[in-house]
Amino acid sequence: MLQRRQLFQFAGVAAVAGAGGATWMYLGAGRSDALAGVPFRHYPFDPVAAENFRQKLFIPVASGPFGVLDVAGPLKIRAGAASFPLLPGRESPFLLYQTEQSGKAYQNPIFRIECGARFTASLDNALAEPTIIHWHGLHTPAAMDGHPASTIGPGGRFAYDFKVSNRGGTYWYHTHAHELTAEQAYHGLASFFLVDDDDQRSVSKALDLQLGITDLPLVIQDKQFDAQGKLLYKPGAHEAMMGWLGDIVLANLTPNAVQAVTPRTYRLRLLNGSNARIYRLAFVKGRTALDFTVIGTDGGLIERPETVAEAFLAPGERLDVLFDAGQAQPGEDIFLKSLAFDAMENEGEGPAGGAGGMPGMGGMGMGRMMASMSSSRLPLGAEFNVLKLSVTAGERIVAKLPVTLSRVKPIRTEGAAQRKIELSMGQMRFLINGRTYHMDEIAFDVKRGAVEIWNISNPTMGMPHPMHIHGFSFQVLERIGSPPQVAAMARFGQGRTVSDLGWKDTVLVWPGETVRVTIDFAHDFPGDQTYVFHCHNLEHEDGGMMINFRVKA
Ligand code: C2O
Ligand code: CU
Ligand code: CU
Repeated sequence: MLQRRQLFQFAGVAAVAGAGGATWMYLGAGRSDALAGVPFRHYPFDPVAAENFRQKLFIPVASGPFGVLDVAGPLKIRAGAASFPLLPGRESPFLLYQTEQSGKAYQNPIFRIECGARFTASLDNALAEPTIIHWHGLHTPAAMDGHPASTIGPGGRFAYDFKVSNRGGTYWYHTHAHELTAEQAYHGLASFFLVDDDDQRSVSKALDLQLGITDLPLVIQDKQFDAQGKLLYKPGAHEAMMGWLGDIVLANLTPNAVQAVTPRTYRLRLLNGSNARIYRLAFVKGRTALDFTVIGTDGGLIERPETVAEAFLAPGERLDVLFDAGQAQPGEDIFLKSLAFDAMENEGEGPAGGAGGMPGMGGMGMGRMMASMSSSRLPLGAEFNVLKLSVTAGERIVAKLPVTLSRVKPIRTEGAAQRKIELSMGQMRFLINGRTYHMDEIAFDVKRGAVEIWNISNPTMGMPHPMHIHGFSFQVLERIGSPPQVAAMARFGQGRTVSDLGWKDTVLVWPGETVRVTIDFAHDFPGDQTYVFHCHNLEHEDGGMMINFRVKA
């Protein structure tokens, strides 16, 4: 088995440095603060403090970091160590995918490709440890999917060649190195994979949207930094169990980002690229949550635009939204925020749940105690800002939304086999159907072409898990037993929220919930296909909250 190792040696804690003109002390572990319930505030880049939002949002252009690369032929991708100025004026060790096309160099390119086209690329591993790329959301043959067993060693090469058969939408790609996904993705190995089709083009046309100007891919991530402004990733037992949380929030790798907007409609392709943080997103002006319109989820456009005031976005999920910045006057600011919510870490284990807590912890459940011991000063469920939109003068353009965006054909579930997927906890790790991951163990077989219904249940005593399938998309049929904060957003029938609509590959399952999804296992690849199903809390994934399933030909 591969040895887990640190990619970089980071400088220690409790040092003093100047950043953004301020002198600050990075305490590294804010344990006592969190336990005392005293939030540690006002560090530079604290996302809670609105006045910190002054860095111009990084917007993808035609090359360079996050450059939009219209795939025109075979590519050579190199995964390697680099450095990147994540915090202003400070270089941090970072990992990047580098490639070029037509003489232009790209780092972590945003691939854009037409539905039906072929994607051909070689991956060269220039890291000091194993890696592999997974195309999140794409229907590829298992051999092209970046299964953990495909991981290549340092100096190794992997050849990808597959047809992009997904409908238009906002997909992404990231490392899937066996037991190293969390650490490598955190250090940079992830970006977008946009698929175009006629439905996408007609939306862009109807709303006069342009990628990189009014159509903005926006990856949201939370990270920790040390006193020198270098990325910090040091999960202890607590964070390995609960997930690694950051206290600086990056939008397109920009901390405390601000973007100027004119009074018109923007499309934001939101991707939660965080290791473990769930966001409860809302656009807020003053104290009012403004309306926004969801037009797409993980697997492309939904049927109709749906207007809401908030939505959860879990690691791995995407939400394509339209936001009308004309809801504010020039000179006003709007914040894309994550609103406060109950993180539900080990809900039910405290005194209220009756199972009793840890002795001496005042009845605090194990999960809550662990969460409070996290090294992040920004606990899961805290309220903070993600992005500031400052409205500037410009022509008021009122968008006419198309009534129909696309057709999402419901999977026919008559006669579908039902399968139980039970999430649980045991020996300080999270399990699926009682198992931890073994690379060569197949949890179950499904028949090619079969339609199944998976009833994914999460015990009350646990934490939220964003469950993700490789190789296929699914449809969410129903949410049962949702906690009040989710039930309050269930406006779409069968307990579903806006994030459940359309074609999905990742679905958040809260403690106490059973989420019923349906999957059509039809494919046209020769032979058996083995994929993984796992939690997209990346520490959970690496910790073994993953199974193999095989689609038998
Ligand atoms: Cu984006 Cu296996 O994951
Ligand atoms: Cu995936
Ligand atoms: Cu999980």
